[in-house]
Amino acid sequence: MPYHMQHCLIGLAGYMRDYLHLFVNGQEHKVSGSEAFQPLSTFLRWGLGKTGTKIVCEEGDCGACTVLVGKLKDGKIDYQPINSCIQLLYQADLSHIITVEGLKQNGHLNPVQDAMVECHGTQCGFCTPGFVVAMCEYFDRSKSPCAQGIKDSVTGNLCRCTGYEPIIKAGLNVDLTSIVPLSELYPPSEMVKLFAEKRKESVLIKAEGKTVFLPATLADASKFKSENQDAIIIAGGTDVCVVMNKRAYAPNVVMNFCNIDGLSEIKIGDGRIHVGATATLAKLESFVKDKVPEFFDLLWVFGSPQIRNAGTLAGNIANASPIADTPPFLFVMDAVINLVSTKGSRQVRINDFYKGYKRFDMNKDEFISSVEIPLPAKGEMVRLYKVSRRKHLDISTNTAAFKFKLNGNKIEDIAIAYGGVAAVILRLPKTEDFLKGKQVDLDVFQKAADIAVSEITPISDVRGSREFRLQLAKNLLSKLYYEITEGRIAACQQ
Ligand SMILES: Cc1cc2nc3c(=O)[nH]c(=O)nc-3n(C[C@H](O)[C@H](O)[C@H](O)COP(=O)(O)OP(=O)(O)OC[C@H]3O[C@@H](n4cnc5c(N)ncnc54)[C@H](O)[C@@H]3O)c2cc1C
Ligand code: FES
Ligand code: FES
Repeated sequence: MPYHMQHCLIGLAGYMRDYLHLFVNGQEHKVSGSEAFQPLSTFLRWGLGKTGTKIVCEEGDCGACTVLVGKLKDGKIDYQPINSCIQLLYQADLSHIITVEGLKQNGHLNPVQDAMVECHGTQCGFCTPGFVVAMCEYFDRSKSPCAQGIKDSVTGNLCRCTGYEPIIKAGLNVDLTSIVPLSELYPPSEMVKLFAEKRKESVLIKAEGKTVFLPATLADASKFKSENQDAIIIAGGTDVCVVMNKRAYAPNVVMNFCNIDGLSEIKIGDGRIHVGATATLAKLESFVKDKVPEFFDLLWVFGSPQIRNAGTLAGNIANASPIADTPPFLFVMDAVINLVSTKGSRQVRINDFYKGYKRFDMNKDEFISSVEIPLPAKGEMVRLYKVSRRKHLDISTNTAAFKFKLNGNKIEDIAIAYGGVAAVILRLPKTEDFLKGKQVDLDVFQKAADIAVSEITPISDVRGSREFRLQLAKNLLSKLYYEITEGRIAACQQ
């Protein structure tokens, strides 16, 4: 019996597969053993000879390795561009991957490629497949393509020689009438049926001292974590895979939740947004667009589309970086983290979660199942700042979140969180206490800025010196003052 037909029942619930099952450009593949542990880009280039997928930075920064990953969603295959250099093959279980080679239409270049040729959108060509893949997804998704939409779709793609103008021009000159939808290029019915069926199975692959487990249920995940407490959880992999590629980090036992039903859900309940552990940042971004526009704006400049299509809120929290973008917002909203283990579940307020640099209140047998974010109450105002050297695809130097309520010109209540100013994200209790009950006045905010500086201990690093960060900490309070007085911050109406 071939390996892929061997099913064995083990102590965990349900049947267990010992291979990955995926499609690439419509071709079915079953992958077992050590091959399951390689980056997706390596599998595509070296395993399948799909060398149109280029590797340049190997850390998610350039988009040359962009491919479309199609996952089962509402009975269809939903395609998103991601960076294949920072995805491990096991993350692509039950996916349909489309590479630049697979975007051909009737054996010819597709309309995006034609436009790139006609508008001179390529020189050395190394970045070109990534741009083409990202734009093809945009044209497949967008009902009324526009210049801004084209620009937004390629914010995760860098070109070193052509310059962006001809590339955007190519996007604007795509013959929309000739585009064949992805669902016609790759009729989904067979994949949909197979993926839905296979999601009921967990996957366990062991090879050369390494183990990967893809549980089908939360109960299977908890049991595995209690028996393998050093197991590393890989969600989107946008933090972990960079460390793997650049610092030879090689965890022996890993677990990924891509096949657990319901864990990618985002919903509203009890005045809170409930965000499942595998919900991508892109999904969160569109969910909060009308509900918390300020958070939407922050997510819009988080990494790039490729990063947001893979990365998760849980990963941003558990990576515990002091310059992570979402935690300051979560701090001022007093978000709650739901942790699960075989012993049950417990809640930790994010304000109590971090215990030091990369240390937090999460036991080795636990993991995050979801995050609850209270919605702003009526009359509350939220302002979020990200200071970075460029708008898109950059890590923050400093971050700040303010949630406050005014009564006339008086500050009735305020919560402040700063990032990039200490080993962990900080609330600024003395500054908050000083501002409560004060008038909105420049002098008041300048005094508050001096107190804020006394509460933080920034260091110098490649993103900015200690002195620069201290000045930024002050300036952000002045900026808040001016934005309040100019009426640029809207109070929540719900
Ligand atoms: C090019 C690039 C740009 C980026 N831009 C930004 C940016 O603008 N702002 C920003 O804040 N970050 C940025 N990042 C960092 C990264 O994308 C985010 O931190 C992202 O949210 C990580 O999520 P993930 O799902 O990919 O985490 P992973 O890499 O999968 O995991 C990160 C950590 O979280 C742990 N973890 C994941 N899920 C769970 C869980 N359910 N329970 C317990 N532990 C868990 C993992 O074990 C690991 O320690 C960027 C990264 C790259 C490569
Ligand atoms: S090679 Fe640069 S993002 Fe993957
Ligand atoms: S064409 Fe050379 S990097 Fe873009």
